[in-house]
Amino acid sequence: MHVRMADSFMNTRAVVIALVPHRCAPGPYMAVGARSLAVRRQPSGLLHGAWRRPRGAVAHRGRPPSHAARRGSGRPPPPPTVIIRVHAAALNPVDYKTISGALSPFFAGPSADAPLIPGKDVAGVVTATSSAPGASPAFPVGTRVFGCLEGGALAERVAAPESLLSVIPDGVSFVDAAATPLAALTVLQCLRRLADEVGEGPTKALPSLLVSSGAGGTGSFALQLAKRVFGVPRLVTTVSAAKADVATSLGADETVDYKTTTVGHALGGDRRVAAALDLVGDIPGLLPGVVRGGAVVGIAGPFQPGQMGSWAPAGLPIYLRLALWAMCAPVNVRAALAGVHWSSLLLESNGRELAEVATWMTEGKIKPLIDSVHEGLGAATAAFEKLMGGHAVGKIVVRVVPEGE
Ligand SMILES: NC(=O)c1ccc[n+]([C@@H]2O[C@H](COP(=O)([O-])OP(=O)(O)OC[C@H]3O[C@@H](n4cnc5c(N)ncnc54)[C@H](OP(=O)(O)O)[C@@H]3O)[C@@H](O)[C@H]2O)c1
Repeated sequence: MHVRMADSFMNTRAVVIALVPHRCAPGPYMAVGARSLAVRRQPSGLLHGAWRRPRGAVAHRGRPPSHAARRGSGRPPPPPTVIIRVHAAALNPVDYKTISGALSPFFAGPSADAPLIPGKDVAGVVTATSSAPGASPAFPVGTRVFGCLEGGALAERVAAPESLLSVIPDGVSFVDAAATPLAALTVLQCLRRLADEVGEGPTKALPSLLVSSGAGGTGSFALQLAKRVFGVPRLVTTVSAAKADVATSLGADETVDYKTTTVGHALGGDRRVAAALDLVGDIPGLLPGVVRGGAVVGIAGPFQPGQMGSWAPAGLPIYLRLALWAMCAPVNVRAALAGVHWSSLLLESNGRELAEVATWMTEGKIKPLIDSVHEGLGAATAAFEKLMGGHAVGKIVVRVVPEGE
């Protein structure tokens, strides 16, 4: 991946990625601040429209809300939106998967030549809101907010629907706030599903849980949430030996060195767990460690065609459904033989659950594990390279505004 920084983009700066067809270049590369490209085509129209017209432009790509109303277009009104001055943005594997085009057959994403501002996790300060004059906005100007957006976080400014945001708790830094939404919300939704499926008693408590990759970006939140919020009495995770201490400090009761031991070997017989959370895309590898009647949720594939949620709102074409079905078939067989129910989950970002996460941060139950902080948008390349190495310990964050500014 090649990254180039340009000086300015509409008086602001953003990391803009141009996906270049293979006949032009060996792979996707980034052009940062490529003004003409970015102005011509935005993935969602957000930054461009938002910067120039903070209100209706955000939802209507340059047209104020009144424009649609006058034309009687029948479109729903734009969602309440804010402009955020970005202080920090965190990276997630989905960012480079999107850039590479690996997800484009499945999800509406950038076309081959479309520039894209990457980054979903954002933390910053509200500088404008779309609320009508006199109305009280959910997040007034000056509020510190964080959230998991559709994209565009690696920028100086981004427009964001209020529904995806929550207030950053007092005392929580922008870096910690940016590191949290996508990973914490994903594992929260997974844990809730597992508790629903195999939780015991009126509180649906999970008696035991196996989490793969407990020291990674999502795994580090999974261990903390499972132990300190869901109160799982027996929490096991697969990590390499060097990361066992980190996993233990995050709440793991037992660690399995995935480089030297299989889950089946470490957790066979009566050592099996009631539920498992697959964060590396190896559900069959976890099945031997789960009791018959137990459940597994996976977030790293394969994905069941009926469980794409809002990621494929119009449904998938038949050939993609068949492709997903074919990818799931071996897991279906292995899970059926093991007597374990398995499902896949794609995050549905929302500010409501993020507010719950914020409360747990305030209470000290969750503290993001930070792998590294990269200073300035110009350091985005280094941040991506670190992420794509696949060995991060916790989250990788780009600090857009220097601390204290
Ligand atoms: N479905 C969704 O909505 C959703 C949401 C978030 C993430 N995801 C997906 O979940 C996956 C994990 O995301 P992430 O942010 O946690 O990635 P990450 O932070 O980059 O994961 C890196 C960690 O994975 C560990 N690891 C690698 N292979 C492993 C294995 N076989 N067993 C145990 N640990 C292993 C590495 O440990 P070592 O250095 O010791 O190898 C490293 O600590 C990605 O594929 C991502 O796209 C999906």
